[in-house]
Amino acid sequence: IRALAQPQHATTNPARKGVGLKSGAAISAKAARNVAAAALAPTMMQMQEIEESITQISSTPEWKALEDHVTEIERTHLRDLLRDSGRSEALFHEHNKVLADFSRQRITSKTLELLYKLAERAKLKEKIEAMFNGEHINVTEDRAVLHVALRAPRDAVIEADGKNVVPDVWAVLDKIKAFSDRVRSGEWKGATGKALTDVVAIGIGGSFLGPLFVHTALRTDQGAAGQAKGRQLRFLANVDPVDVARALNGLKQETTLVVVVSKTFTTAETMLNARTVRTWLTTELGTAAVAKHMVAVSTNLKLVKEFGINPANAFAFWDWVGGRYSVCSAVGVLPLALQYGFGVAEKFLQGAHDVDQHFRQAPFEDNIPVLLGLTGVWNTTFLGYSSLAILPYTQALSKLAPHIQQVSMESNGKGVATDGSRLPFMAGEIDFGEPGTNGQHSFYQLIHQGRVVPCEFIGLVKSQQSVYLKGEVVSNHDELMCNFFAQADALATGKTPVELRAENVPDSLIPHKTFTGNRPSTSLLLPELTAFTTGQILSLYENRIAVQGFIWGINSFDQWGVELGKVLASQVRAEVHACRTKDRNVLPSDRFNASTTRLLNRYLAGKAR
Ligand code: F6P
Repeated sequence: IRALAQPQHATTNPARKGVGLKSGAAISAKAARNVAAAALAPTMMQMQEIEESITQISSTPEWKALEDHVTEIERTHLRDLLRDSGRSEALFHEHNKVLADFSRQRITSKTLELLYKLAERAKLKEKIEAMFNGEHINVTEDRAVLHVALRAPRDAVIEADGKNVVPDVWAVLDKIKAFSDRVRSGEWKGATGKALTDVVAIGIGGSFLGPLFVHTALRTDQGAAGQAKGRQLRFLANVDPVDVARALNGLKQETTLVVVVSKTFTTAETMLNARTVRTWLTTELGTAAVAKHMVAVSTNLKLVKEFGINPANAFAFWDWVGGRYSVCSAVGVLPLALQYGFGVAEKFLQGAHDVDQHFRQAPFEDNIPVLLGLTGVWNTTFLGYSSLAILPYTQALSKLAPHIQQVSMESNGKGVATDGSRLPFMAGEIDFGEPGTNGQHSFYQLIHQGRVVPCEFIGLVKSQQSVYLKGEVVSNHDELMCNFFAQADALATGKTPVELRAENVPDSLIPHKTFTGNRPSTSLLLPELTAFTTGQILSLYENRIAVQGFIWGINSFDQWGVELGKVLASQVRAEVHACRTKDRNVLPSDRFNASTTRLLNRYLAGKAR
């Protein structure tokens, strides 16, 4: 593999060092292809045909051209690049009132040209089409990736395995509407004849983070909040008894509806929590209450039935919806419809569909998710900046970063290409974030003067709240947004020793007060945060992440990396169970390594049960 033989660019950026792998760690692409082809179903071959001509992407001239271009970019500074108003104009993009300003990225028109060529070499267009056309691009699980169908209009036609899936999607949406209308109106009554005003959604990972993100975004939106009066929506994700206690605190069984959300209906944490909450319900209301107080969202209706929930009270989705991409299925739509009404949830779907259309149709030069993805690849892989800070300037988006963290890191945190050959570069990025201005008083010190962390700032023209104190210099929202504008420039332009001396800063403090600047960011500005724009934001990120995976040549839609820990936890569970039931406090010494045995024995000797 050519990239393995390449010396790393001479660079001042320490993050770029050591991104290559030892050649011994790589297996030949051809051997890997043969193994993969023999082991997996024929449908894998469709995607492999696309990949065939490009494996590995890092050995192509287009990749090499970008590597060479790094030296050129390292001679530039954003302070100077931002003086060019023509460049800024060209890097400003708009789709349906969503503005994206890429002028604070360390890119020039040449960088973009080279990235478009890389996209062409990676067959980005073809891969996007393959996704929308229901091809089995999740090759290791032999599945289509069609979360975009979840938000398609009723009359759309999107096929998976020769079948239009849109009617099935809408059959479930219609069922959600009918059910949520009945619950909200009080027509659906609990075991004691009372209306169900409170909902606890039990689920984890993709069956939790997306719905929590959207609920948090809508809670203070005047339109949505108006629909939620007198209702509560809570989430229970962690198997920690503390989370159970917090989720149920103050709720009454007779007015509570429990939604068990699990794609597989086997996830250990969710199933244990579901059993715990079922006991909480039935101890108070009797076993028959399950029929009125528990419903499910799953692809596994057989296990839903075995659990004791009537399949008539279950809301289906399909194996072509990845867990972390499932917020637009019943996973998100049911809890949101129960809380805010189906109309609000539908607006959210429409927003996501709006950006999906833009993503599929707009030329790359004007395609916001594509540009977000390409600049992400540029920052991560070529400039060697391994993280991304997601910085919304609204408290209502406080759960965006945790959600995107899963979507991005579970999707793109991979070590091998689609064909199984080991990547000679690092894919994926470390995503984290916090709303501004809170983050400014936390980790911004590091991103201004420590490591370079590319940032995505998200601002709103209009706040969800209209708090304006007369007599103040600016309103709360103006104050918030002043920071949104200022931070991006502070990161880009920095502050030089010359400027500091002009301010009579003593020499001894100049190194401490200098800001090197040249730190990249993108600014997204939306008119306001509504159900529709929340959907737009979701689709921007989901599709941005897909672009990155398509360019890196990885499968962004499987998650084998979560399996090993689950298997080991099962082994530990069996031993803990054996110790508890036999009332013995010491493990046999041959089960685990010495370290784990010692830790477990300390735990078992304690009182926790
Ligand atoms: O974290 C691993 C994972 O498999 C996620 O991909 C998924 O969203 C989550 O667990 C929950 O899975 P399920 O919806 O099947 O309970």
